[in-house]
Amino acid sequence: HFLRDDEATQECQALLSTLPKEKTRLITLHKYQDFWYSARQLGGVLACQQHFQAQDTDIHLATAPKSGTTWLKALVFTLLNRKNCPITKDHPLVTTNPHDLVPFLEFDLYANNQVPDLASFASPRLFSIHLPFTSLPKSVHESACKLVYLCRDPKDVFVSLWHFSNKLRPQNIETISFEETFHKYCKGVSFFGPFWDHILGYWKESLRNPEKILFLKYEDLKEQPRLHLRRLAQFMHCPFSAKEETEGVVDEILELCSFGNLRNLEVNKDGKLSSGVENTAFFRRGEVGDWKNYLTAEMGDQLDEIIEEKFYGSGLSF
Ligand code: A3P
Repeated sequence: HFLRDDEATQECQALLSTLPKEKTRLITLHKYQDFWYSARQLGGVLACQQHFQAQDTDIHLATAPKSGTTWLKALVFTLLNRKNCPITKDHPLVTTNPHDLVPFLEFDLYANNQVPDLASFASPRLFSIHLPFTSLPKSVHESACKLVYLCRDPKDVFVSLWHFSNKLRPQNIETISFEETFHKYCKGVSFFGPFWDHILGYWKESLRNPEKILFLKYEDLKEQPRLHLRRLAQFMHCPFSAKEETEGVVDEILELCSFGNLRNLEVNKDGKLSSGVENTAFFRRGEVGDWKNYLTAEMGDQLDEIIEEKFYGSGLSF
């Protein structure tokens, strides 16, 4: 899984030897096109860059890890498929984790050096990516496909990432150091980091090209879910009809995809992804501001200073 760095193709091994490295006790990260990846992740990134062919009707859900990807997958899957899959007790989300409904290009479809046959994907195809904007496959830039980017307060992302990494770490490795991981995160060294460049890449492009990229924040989705769900539907050219509005479909979708509902489903309490990761790993607290329970005041200030400096003048703040 994503913490293994001992498996890389020959092509990837040759590239790895030329890239800057940062070692932690858990894993070695490699800097490729200005962002940090494990060897295994890099294999998927390369395969996807080389082979993925975007279609104009594709929709890509882009996030940095732990920014709310699971929630976004659930919401967009439900929105797009609401005609074929109405919200009943037989809805696919009731029996399947969102990650198995919306695959990652680099982690799932193009992982392990495979080149998938995507012919069975009906249009509009829905994919997920952690790739930074500048490293997207060329055809994603060139086609008319759409991207939805979801970001989250980097302090909450850090805490979420630390918990997730600990949960998924191999049994024989001791607990991952909070301080060491924090120090690296502040230097930009984390999966698909630096976090500020990941966010800014999509933010700037969303300002230049709002038809192509819808930029969302986890905190805004929490605060005004109806507003942002309607924005999402508009953006994907499937706005809610007056009839749907009257029937309360907006609230039905939000309830189905809510943290409380998804976390308590049997599939997410006891099930595993096809990749073997336990579904519970994707549902921890699901709150805004949980960082206050883990970061010291100094750590919080340190990250705030970095956020302020890096986002200065961009119009974006957390
Ligand atoms: P916490 O660790 O802060 O609880 P990702 O999906 O990108 O891996 O991000 C995981 C984070 O999103 C976790 O945050 C998780 O609890 C939260 N999350 C998962 N499902 C959610 C949902 N339906 N609504 C809100 N947050 C959710």
